[in-house]
Amino acid sequence: RRPSGGKLPLAGRHVLVTSGPTHEPIDPVRYIANRSSGKQGHAVAAAAQKLGARVTLITGPVEIADPEGVTVQHVETAQEMLTAVEAALPADVAVFAAAVADWRVASAAEGKIKKAKGAPPPALHLAENADILATVARLKPRRRPQLVIGFAAETDAVVENAERKRSAKAVDWIVANDVSQGSGVFGGERNTVHLVTAQGVENWPQMSKADVAAALIGRAARYLAQSVEQ
Ligand code: CTP
Ligand code: CA
Repeated sequence: RRPSGGKLPLAGRHVLVTSGPTHEPIDPVRYIANRSSGKQGHAVAAAAQKLGARVTLITGPVEIADPEGVTVQHVETAQEMLTAVEAALPADVAVFAAAVADWRVASAAEGKIKKAKGAPPPALHLAENADILATVARLKPRRRPQLVIGFAAETDAVVENAERKRSAKAVDWIVANDVSQGSGVFGGERNTVHLVTAQGVENWPQMSKADVAAALIGRAARYLAQSVEQ
C-alpha cells in the first residue's frame, strides 16, 4: 500500500486479462486444448489489482484459485472467451495471456462418439477460431484499449516470431515466452520472457511468474501515466 493519501498507479483504470487454455469439445466427454496452467495470466490480474486497477479476468478451465479482489469469468471455448472479452470492454489495458485453441471441431458431436468394431478412427474436421487478441487490437480507437498486450509462446526463433506477431496483429507489446526446455516450462513457477515493443526488444532475466507480472504491469502503469502527461 502507498502511504495514506497516495493514489495507487492504476486507480480508476480497468484492466482486462485473459488466462488459461480454452477447451474445444469433440463430443460431450472429449475436447482439444492447449497446455496452459493459467499461472502467468492470473499473476498479471493479481498484479494489476495490487496497483489499484479494477480487473476483469476471463479464464479458461484451470486448476488454480481465482485471484482475490478480481472479477473472474470462467469460460470453456474460444468463442465464449471472445464473447466475454467483448462484453467486458471498454478497458484501459488488455493483456491476452490465454493459450487459445487455434481450432475447434467444426461440428462437435451431440452424443458420445462410440468405437465401432472394425470401423476406422473418426476424422476431426477443424474450423479456425477467431483471434481474440487481433480482434481487440484492431478495434476503432474509441473502443480499443489504450495498451494491448499479447503473449507469444514460442519454441524457436522466439523474438523474430514475436515481432512478426506484434506487427501482424497491430498489438502494442508482445511478451515473448520461451517455452523450449528449461526456460518457461509449462506449469512451472518461473518464466523467461522478452518484451517486444515498437521501440525494440528487452531481454528479461528468468523470474518468477509473479515477478514477470509485476514488472509488466508496472511498465503498463508508467505508459498510461506518461500518455496522460503528454
Ligand atoms: N490469441 C488469441 N486468440 C486466438 C489465438 C491467439 O487471443 N485465437 C492470442 C494469445 O492469447 C496470445 C497471442 O494471441 O496473446 C499469440 O498467441 P500464439 O498462439 O502465440 O499465436 P498465434 O497467432 O495463434 O500463432 P501460432 O499459434 O501459429 O504461433
Ligand atoms: Ca496459437
